[in-house]
Amino acid sequence: MATSLLDATIKSPHPSFDHAFRADVLRGLAGRAKSIPARWLYDETGSEIFEEITQAPEYYPTRTETSLLRAHSADVVRQSGADAPVVEFGSGSSLKTRILLEHMPKTTYVPIDICGEFMEAACAELRARFPKLEILPVEGDFMQEVPLPSCVKSSDSAAPEALGFFPGSTIGNLLHAEAVDMLRAMHRTLGDGAWLLIGMDRAKEPDRLIAAYDDALGITAQFNLNLLTRINRELEGSIPINHFRHVARWNAERSRIEMHLEALHDVRFEVAGTPFTMVRGETIHTENCHKYTPQGMEELLAAGGWTTHSHWSDADGDYSLLLARACDPKCG
Ligand code: AVJ
Repeated sequence: MATSLLDATIKSPHPSFDHAFRADVLRGLAGRAKSIPARWLYDETGSEIFEEITQAPEYYPTRTETSLLRAHSADVVRQSGADAPVVEFGSGSSLKTRILLEHMPKTTYVPIDICGEFMEAACAELRARFPKLEILPVEGDFMQEVPLPSCVKSSDSAAPEALGFFPGSTIGNLLHAEAVDMLRAMHRTLGDGAWLLIGMDRAKEPDRLIAAYDDALGITAQFNLNLLTRINRELEGSIPINHFRHVARWNAERSRIEMHLEALHDVRFEVAGTPFTMVRGETIHTENCHKYTPQGMEELLAAGGWTTHSHWSDADGDYSLLLARACDPKCG
């Protein structure tokens, strides 16, 4: 799913994370409305549990996006050209990347991720599967412009424009303004004329959304509660985990699923030496997953400098795969 500050794929601890993790947790628990940024859900265990979520019967996004990619990758490559360098925002070991690359096995593939170490393992797998693919991993945070190798973003107008790839509806984790900033950064990273293939989840009946984020087997609950385990382990916390439960709420006004951890009793605990109290029913907000209307998706892309060329959906209208093009700043 993806990275930078969002990434679901960071598998190995990174020394500089310790400090940021502690700062985010202490700040997030200090206020009245408690929240911890979603990226901290994805430690090694969290990333593994997320993989299990993608197999849960109620979690339709991964399955639906995968079939959309199977159905439309050939159309995408017809637009971009089979020699367009593919720039993936987030890690690229996934099945989804392979579906796209099957149609462009000899091109250049540039995964961008903040964790270089993790990318190496992912690239080794792709190298074995696509021996003619040129793989040029770039370590960086794609919330900002990332400098690409000159063969990818070239000033030579005869060179093929890049194809950006951002699957998984990972954009949905961001607030609107953050999503616009990220799309603009992607535009600057790839340059005018580049393509972007992006997956986004659609708003639908709240019951189905809540089921997708609170599955009957309790996998998503485990995923959310793992954050407390991580805090206790890495930040010398004493949070009574069995006094919390996972909650998935539909926020209709903001068109998003919110994940929270709700205290079942009044609780007191410490994190990194700092004491905290929560009353029964109080929650820690841990993730937002925004859901869009078809029109809202295209408007969001446009605000970020991208003109929609193709917009595919499944028969039930659950999920969208969009191919957009970076227009120059005058039109965006
Ligand atoms: C990895 C952010 C795309 O929002 O659907 C799934 C994360 N959280 N179940 C999503 C998630 C709980 C997922 N993304």
